[in-house]
Amino acid sequence: MARQYSSRKRVLVTGGAGFLGSHLCERLIGEGHEVLCVDNFFTGDKRNITHLLKHDRFELLRHDITFPLFVEVDEIYNLACPASPIHYQHDPVQTTKTSVHGSINMLGLAKRLKAKILQASTSEVYGDPSVHPQTEDYWGHVNPIGPRSCYDEGKRCAETLFFDYHRQLRVSIKVPRIFNTYGPRMHVADGRVVSNFIVQALRGEPITLYGDGQQTRSFCYVDDLIDGLVRMMDSADDVTGPINLGNPTEFSMVELAERVIAGTGSKSQLTYAPLPEDDPRQRRPDISRAKDVLGWQPNVPLEAGLERTIAYFKTVV
Ligand SMILES: NC(=O)c1ccc[n+]([C@@H]2O[C@H](COP(=O)([O-])OP(=O)(O)OC[C@H]3O[C@@H](n4cnc5c(N)ncnc54)[C@H](O)[C@@H]3O)[C@@H](O)[C@H]2O)c1
Repeated sequence: MARQYSSRKRVLVTGGAGFLGSHLCERLIGEGHEVLCVDNFFTGDKRNITHLLKHDRFELLRHDITFPLFVEVDEIYNLACPASPIHYQHDPVQTTKTSVHGSINMLGLAKRLKAKILQASTSEVYGDPSVHPQTEDYWGHVNPIGPRSCYDEGKRCAETLFFDYHRQLRVSIKVPRIFNTYGPRMHVADGRVVSNFIVQALRGEPITLYGDGQQTRSFCYVDDLIDGLVRMMDSADDVTGPINLGNPTEFSMVELAERVIAGTGSKSQLTYAPLPEDDPRQRRPDISRAKDVLGWQPNVPLEAGLERTIAYFKTVV
């Protein structure tokens, strides 16, 4: 769909060659906008966006957002940041810099351009929560000096910066807190649970469960999540967030492993390993605010999402 020039927006997507970013670029191109995808390719992959490169409304720029960027756009989706523990713990100082310096650079750009800016925040700001399910007014239970802190505290500081730029400098902000999302183009080796289980099942290797495997997570299919991000960007100016975006249906890790085994037809067995440090036992979003304010809720059930994700992993494993 090509839009009238007047309703067409120029949209910057940082981290646009990553898992969520590539789906977002695709969606925005599909809606007729111009997309500038900025990525330093730390965890992103050109193959995620190859199909967009030939599009005349799509542009790719290799750039690290910890350095200033001068471009002209109407909206900014700030997704740049490694999202899986293996990747964000690889260079923790760079991870914090990406959230903190990166946010300062992108907020400065938004201020100069009077552009709306959305920050991909995370359920990790709640840490190992003592409130369940998590509502947006829960302040979290986060270790400031552990191996996950570069990500959790980096994202918390990014939220602080967003709200201060909004209060002090009247920048128009949108802060969704994203819960576990899965789907095609997740990194094969990022150690996240859904991709891990699928890859192990497809290779016929044992499926690793941590602890007793009874800890629960909720999983949102990528198309649902992207729809939430776009709705949030398009919401009224007074909607700043934070707003939880995720799927509230909970599954234990054992249940997930069994569904993956059934979906792949694998002969893999379950195997158990010790729980990693600071691993939360339970995490589930309360999405009442997203329903009320954005009219958003996830629609893709786990079976359907897993089927599409397994089909993707079959092409890359
Ligand atoms: N996928 C999830 O379940 C989830 C959950 C909560 C929050 N998030 C957030 O959503 C965003 C996207 O996550 P994802 O799952 O697509 O991860 P991803 O690792 O696939 O994508 C992140 C992208 O950012 C790029 N990047 C990293 N540092 C950069 C830098 N300094 N400058 C420019 N580009 C940089 C990477 O190369 C990659 O393309 C992240 O900010 C993440 O924290 C994701």
